[in-house]
Amino acid sequence: MAETLPPKIDMSQPNVARVYDYLLGGKDNFSSDRELAEQLLRIVPGMRESARDNRAFVCAAVARAAEGGVTQFLDLGAGLPTHPATHEAAREINPDARVAYVDIDPVAVIHAQSLLAKGDGVTAFRADLTDPATVLARLDLAGMLDLSQPTGIIIAGVAHFVAADLMRELTAAYLARVPAGSWLIISVGHVEDESETTTLQPAYTAAETFHHSLADFTSFFTGTDIVPPGIVEARRWIAGVSAPPPQHGVYVLTGAGIKR
Ligand SMILES: C[S@@+](CC[C@H](N)C(=O)[O-])C[C@H]1O[C@@H](n2cnc3c(N)ncnc32)[C@H](O)[C@@H]1O
Repeated sequence: MAETLPPKIDMSQPNVARVYDYLLGGKDNFSSDRELAEQLLRIVPGMRESARDNRAFVCAAVARAAEGGVTQFLDLGAGLPTHPATHEAAREINPDARVAYVDIDPVAVIHAQSLLAKGDGVTAFRADLTDPATVLARLDLAGMLDLSQPTGIIIAGVAHFVAADLMRELTAAYLARVPAGSWLIISVGHVEDESETTTLQPAYTAAETFHHSLADFTSFFTGTDIVPPGIVEARRWIAGVSAPPPQHGVYVLTGAGIKR
């Protein structure tokens, strides 16, 4: 399932996947990405910390799902490869775990294919997560995951590009294709002071972004049993509700649910 190279990578234009890579301390970014990331950090100094918290949550939730017997994961909006990657976190628990990485950004997909998809049981392809029919058709074609088996569906750090109504439809559509016992793992940036989102959004991306309320975020898990400690800030999901929250107004709101 190799992607063809995009006709031209415009290095002068920052890109969400590479900005996030820079925030995580990665090297797959250009000066335009670094400039935007630094601009964002001036607006929200805790953003780098939030990116790390987000990654830590994804790995912790994947590990818990794997401990619970989930052997395969569909990582939607997977981003540029980072460490630990989803398959690395899953394979700490189950060395045979399989992962399909999906991203809309061709650069992220090509990196994922060259850096990650060498090993058995890992694939990466380009698709829009808001088009579940296409994602699931391509997944069938790749033949890597068996959706009749419990599957971990990950939508991490990307739900802010999707309106709440559509997110509810999407999680329902993905969950409809997998059996009981499957996990849904979601995280999203959450700004304590909502007025900051109006400053942050145009700086971050030209695309429309959505700030999801706690109630909306919780509704994305309809049809699942939310696992303890519930819908909480990332550090509290990992370490328990007594963990101190970050000392800034930007949080990563997280949750995981098991399909009934
Ligand atoms: C902030 S990164 C998150 C990466 C990773 N999921 C994580 O949490 O560590 C967001 C990623 O979502 C991708 N993305 C944005 N909209 C998307 C869409 N509609 N379908 C698939 N991927 C999308 C971006 O290209 C980017 O790589």
